[in-house]
Amino acid sequence: MAKIRIYQLAKELEMSNEELLKILDDMGVAYKSHASTLEEDTAQAVKELIGEQRVAEAARRAEEARKAIPPRPPVVVIMGHVDHGKTSLLDYLRKSRIAEKEAGGITQHVGAFEVKTEGGTVVFIDTPGHEAFTTIRQRGAKVADIAVIVIAATEGVMPQTKEAIAHAKASGAKIIYAANKMDLPGADINRVYQDLMQMGIVPVAYGGDAEVLPISAKTGQGIPELLETILLIAELEDLRADPKAEAQGVILESRMDKQAGALVSLLVQQGTLRVGDYVVAGEHWGKIRAMSDADGKRRSEAGPGSAVQVLGFSELPVAGETFFWVPDQVAAKEITEERIEERRARESQAEAGRTRNLADLMR
Ligand code: GTP
Ligand code: MG
Repeated sequence: MAKIRIYQLAKELEMSNEELLKILDDMGVAYKSHASTLEEDTAQAVKELIGEQRVAEAARRAEEARKAIPPRPPVVVIMGHVDHGKTSLLDYLRKSRIAEKEAGGITQHVGAFEVKTEGGTVVFIDTPGHEAFTTIRQRGAKVADIAVIVIAATEGVMPQTKEAIAHAKASGAKIIYAANKMDLPGADINRVYQDLMQMGIVPVAYGGDAEVLPISAKTGQGIPELLETILLIAELEDLRADPKAEAQGVILESRMDKQAGALVSLLVQQGTLRVGDYVVAGEHWGKIRAMSDADGKRRSEAGPGSAVQVLGFSELPVAGETFFWVPDQVAAKEITEERIEERRARESQAEAGRTRNLADLMR
């Protein structure tokens, strides 16, 4: 770069002469007017300084934008071997937190529920009966921020415990191990430690970083500490979601009810879903007619981290599928029709491929 006049450099840097003159003053560079010429290395130094300032400014703005997005509740999935006490743990949390509101009717089928704690709301998802989760994990969607692996301390790590741990690891969720049934005489936390160590998972008690918390879903022992750990991890993760964005989330479960029609449990991950909204999930769409939470309480809207059951799909969307807001029925129809056509095209292409292969074989 050769010598350059101040007004030329200002133009190149897309700034006013006044702005550039001020920077030159700050740098202690002498000049007569904006028409003065700058030495090559002075001009280079100015450019570098401005470049740095702009990068810092962009970072500051990005951080500001991020901070402007409100925190959202953590989504916690409960996984583990059969009968190790996953549902009991959730029942305990439910009874103690969602007091008098007895689950009944459709409520039992909500795949997830929100627990209000002093430290904020936590969304829990029970895995058994939720084929949804297999699908979700297979697609690598990170619905859960945190996975609680329930291990009965009377039995230790079992095949499905291992499978659950593998799924949790694959999904990228933070993992907490809960050694359950500690109230029973046969419970032995050391067995749980040892079993985990054999898998290369080192508990905090052994100097590792795996949180293994002794609990009892029956007596409630250790459950406050479990909640505390969940909230601490959530805080460190700095989970945020924009309630003003277009609603988006995941279908957790769907089933046909003789009276109500299609009952769909979903988790809102972003934005706010409202009664009257149109949504598309895979090849199906719906107009949200009604929403209720895990207590069976009617809701008119559901923000990020809400687990609700909705009415309004005419056909059952597939569990694990993502759903998203669309402006109207026209959009809903066009998008789902497109998707169906695309799938059919793929299928007939695959079919044609098979026929060709067969023809090749016969030749
Ligand atoms: P699946 O959904 O079939 O995988 O089982 P689960 O993990 O949900 O186990 P569930 O909560 O149904 O508990 C299985 C049995 O263990 C039930 O009889 C519970 O009452 C019992 N149980 C669960 N947690 C505890 C506990 O902390 N202490 C005692 N004593 N019993 C427990
Ligand atoms: Mg269960």
